[in-house]
Amino acid sequence: MSKKEKFSDAGRLRTVSIAGTGSYMPERIMTNAELETMVETSAEWIVTRTGIAERRLAGESETTSDMGAEAARRALADAGVSPEEVDLIVLATITPDLPFPNTACLVQDKIGAKNAACFSLEAACSGFVFAMETARQFVATGAAKTALVVAAEKMSSIIDWTDRETCVLFGDGAGACVLKAAEGDKGLVHAVLGSNGALAELLMVPGGGSRLPFSEEVLRERNHYLKMEGREVFKHAVKSMTAIAQQVCAEKGLTTKDVACIVPHQANIRIIEAIGQRLGEPKEKFFINLDRYGNTSGASVIVALDEAVRSGVIKRGDLVMLLVFGGGFTWGASLLEWSK
Ligand code: ACO
Repeated sequence: MSKKEKFSDAGRLRTVSIAGTGSYMPERIMTNAELETMVETSAEWIVTRTGIAERRLAGESETTSDMGAEAARRALADAGVSPEEVDLIVLATITPDLPFPNTACLVQDKIGAKNAACFSLEAACSGFVFAMETARQFVATGAAKTALVVAAEKMSSIIDWTDRETCVLFGDGAGACVLKAAEGDKGLVHAVLGSNGALAELLMVPGGGSRLPFSEEVLRERNHYLKMEGREVFKHAVKSMTAIAQQVCAEKGLTTKDVACIVPHQANIRIIEAIGQRLGEPKEKFFINLDRYGNTSGASVIVALDEAVRSGVIKRGDLVMLLVFGGGFTWGASLLEWSK
């Protein structure tokens, strides 16, 4: 590249698109009937209050990075990209293999992406959208050419299997996508992200961090497990996701009527139905797989997007919205024009 060409390119932001997606769900299925044998609940309660019929659980020795690496391999294969071409890995998780080093580095090693800079970020159930929007900035500016975005969760490792209010909700799994500069002008269109740390206490793992380092007391009080005020989370999720779905469209002069498919965070069917009612959008516009996987936290929207594309629900040219909400609180909406 000549000096002149180099300078003429400076400051130009590239359109970024998803070049490939992949997901990995562990084999082991845990049904609602099995949960009936573990806590005071009923299959009927779980399915009517949440929409979840079953979820997947990772094997005992299977880690978040194992699942993330498999999803990443599938996304790379889908994109026709070799691991050596990847120059950035951003991974979202709240269930890292280790407190440090970051799980993105562990995925890098497993897939042989030796030319990548790697870091993880944590935005709970909003993790994938936060990670994708972060990686998008690198590709848009030219700081990275080929970014791998991974979201992987072993929620079963932070679930209190004696707490019926949370253990019925979650599952394990991973998804990934490859981002590259778009060949045309179609790709990631616009995103809105938000957070409210004043509500952090409503959904958290209280122990094991610097505030309450791991100890016998943490163990005794079960503070190394996820705690949630479910009803409060529900209300905030509906309110925030409805508002950002409208905002992300309005900022582009669109409405949700222009969107062909909404891929929401897969937490609870009643949350999705409530958002649909408020937006005036039919249930059919929302891609749903929580009946089979439960809430896989940060991984949920990329697993759902991958399935929606592979099953032909999302087609070339469709305007798609990823819509997420999670602990923090964090929330986000990303509009993309499917171009693969
Ligand atoms: N089985 C049977 N009964 C149960 C169960 C269960 N598994 N869990 C709760 N109950 C009981 C409660 O104890 C309560 O009994 P009570 O009336 O005698 O007190 C009753 O069912 C109703 O409880 P609610 O909390 O009002 O039930 P609700 O309809 O709100 O459903 C739920 C609870 C499913 C947790 C819901 O509030 C929800 O989905 N919240 C959002 C969860 C969520 O999305 N979390 C993830 C956010 S993202 C992230 O970052 C992880």
